[in-house]
Amino acid sequence: MKFPPQIGLFLLSLFFTVNAEETFDVRRHLSTVTRYHVAKEISGNSFVSSDIHDQCKPIHLNLVARHGTRAPTKKKMKEFEVLASRLVILLENVNKQKSKLPAWLWGWKSPWTRKYKGGELINEGENELYQLGIRTREKFPELFRQDYHPDLYPIKATQVSRASASAVAFGMGLFNSRGNLGPGGHRAFAVTSESRASDTMLRFHDCCQNYKGFRKSQEPAVDKLKEPILDEITQDLVTRWGLNFTRRDVSGLWFLCKQEASLLNTTDQACALFSPSQVRFLEWTDDLEVFILKGYGNSLNYRMGVPLLEDVIQSMEQSIKAKEDGLVHGSYELARLRFAHAETLLPFSCLIGLFLNGSEFDLILREQPLQLPPKPPQKRIWHASTVAPFGGNNMLVLHSCPENNSNKYFVQVLHNELPITMPGCGNSDFCPFEIFKERIAAPHLRHDYNTLCNTELKAPTSKLSQVLSWIFPADAKQPQKDEL
Ligand SMILES: *[C@@H]1O[C@H](CO)[C@@H](O)[C@H](O)[C@H]1NC(C)=O
Ligand SMILES: *[C@@H]1O[C@H](CO)[C@@H](O)[C@H](O)[C@H]1NC(C)=O
Ligand SMILES: *[C@@H]1O[C@H](CO)[C@@H](O)[C@H](O)[C@H]1NC(C)=O
Ligand SMILES: *[C@@H]1O[C@H](CO)[C@@H](O)[C@H](O)[C@H]1NC(C)=O
Repeated sequence: MKFPPQIGLFLLSLFFTVNAEETFDVRRHLSTVTRYHVAKEISGNSFVSSDIHDQCKPIHLNLVARHGTRAPTKKKMKEFEVLASRLVILLENVNKQKSKLPAWLWGWKSPWTRKYKGGELINEGENELYQLGIRTREKFPELFRQDYHPDLYPIKATQVSRASASAVAFGMGLFNSRGNLGPGGHRAFAVTSESRASDTMLRFHDCCQNYKGFRKSQEPAVDKLKEPILDEITQDLVTRWGLNFTRRDVSGLWFLCKQEASLLNTTDQACALFSPSQVRFLEWTDDLEVFILKGYGNSLNYRMGVPLLEDVIQSMEQSIKAKEDGLVHGSYELARLRFAHAETLLPFSCLIGLFLNGSEFDLILREQPLQLPPKPPQKRIWHASTVAPFGGNNMLVLHSCPENNSNKYFVQVLHNELPITMPGCGNSDFCPFEIFKERIAAPHLRHDYNTLCNTELKAPTSKLSQVLSWIFPADAKQPQKDEL
């Protein structure tokens, strides 16, 4: 059958319109609730190929990973109960048969209603870390061919079970078939934790009084910042669905959408109440919150991570020394593996200057505040879905390049396993160690954790927080936002 050309063109454009609608996937817009494999799909497109010289060999790896996908916390599960009773009230006088509302709303019960505990690593999360362990060994065979020894491969996790369970899942992947336990040939390995109260390496946010104060004081401001978007979407939903939703209902439904899409792979219930553009705005409000309270929004957010950065630099210097001293491969540490939280990974990414453009990196060096990530449809680099999804990670791989006359050691950063450029190193993803140390790490390492965190502050720590606290005075009664 032959169509006149204009019909062909029409069909073609119809095809592309439909296709553009189909490419919107809410699972890619879930901020820090995004699943790891989805985050990898998103960044897959912006992959930068690095020009590692053949003669360079990895000699040490630092890993900082967030725990994998976890169940909602108990507090969040309680909010679902509240939402369920709100829905009952909203639907009281609505005729189910005559209504255009989705049927699931009637008699909706939280899928987590029969759970008494929350926050744990779920099966999907275990699998994310297990597979990451397998891929890490495959990618760096020269680092992981030694028999396991706790001094060669120290594994550290926070004292929170989803983080230590993530460490165990990773180790099971990394060392599988390297031992003689059971049919999988497993190998027992050690995971060590500092006490929660003094873990300045991986839970610095929890030991930093000034940070806690900052966060508490800014939370109302962050809520205020989100309000206009939530109000607009609330209005739209009231009109579209004919139900008297409140702002709180809408933020509950958005939270439900994120949990359903991430943990249950359900996108046709709560998520289907929102249009793609509403989802993009809601995602932006989540990303703003993460930026202000845990990212570049305030220098203390990441500066308090100096003990971790120090530990990373020190491990690299030790490896370089061991190499220079001619020690045998396998007699010194080959990888330092850490499993923690979004509150660890986000600041760490900021400390090494990821997700910035060159001029923003210079602002950070000059202690000047950054602009907030711009509102959609403007593009932004700061998407929490890729910066800190479940299982998100940074690997800093130290390479030895003996044949290079100018530099013998280089640092490569892999974010979620893909090379990422460092604005602090001329946008290279392969940075001479000395430059990494001097230009990226040193400006932060001049600061001391105890001075930053536990001495009383006379003035707010950044211009942004100054501005925010001026517009929105602190309200000490606000509860702390949930830990990620
Ligand atoms: C929604 O609230 C308005 C006033 O706030 C009221 O007039 C209207 O009847 C309510 N609609 C429903 C469906 O409850
Ligand atoms: C999730 O749902 C999509 C369809 O929406 C399907 O293609 C995919 O295989 C599902 N994933 C899992 C892990 O079930
Ligand atoms: C870097 O980002 C800032 C704001 O975030 C923007 O004003 C500037 O144009 C960007 N520069 C480049 C080179 O993209
Ligand atoms: C040595 O390293 C520099 C970067 O510092 C790079 O530009 C150069 O190509 C390298 N040379 C060799 C021979 O690998």
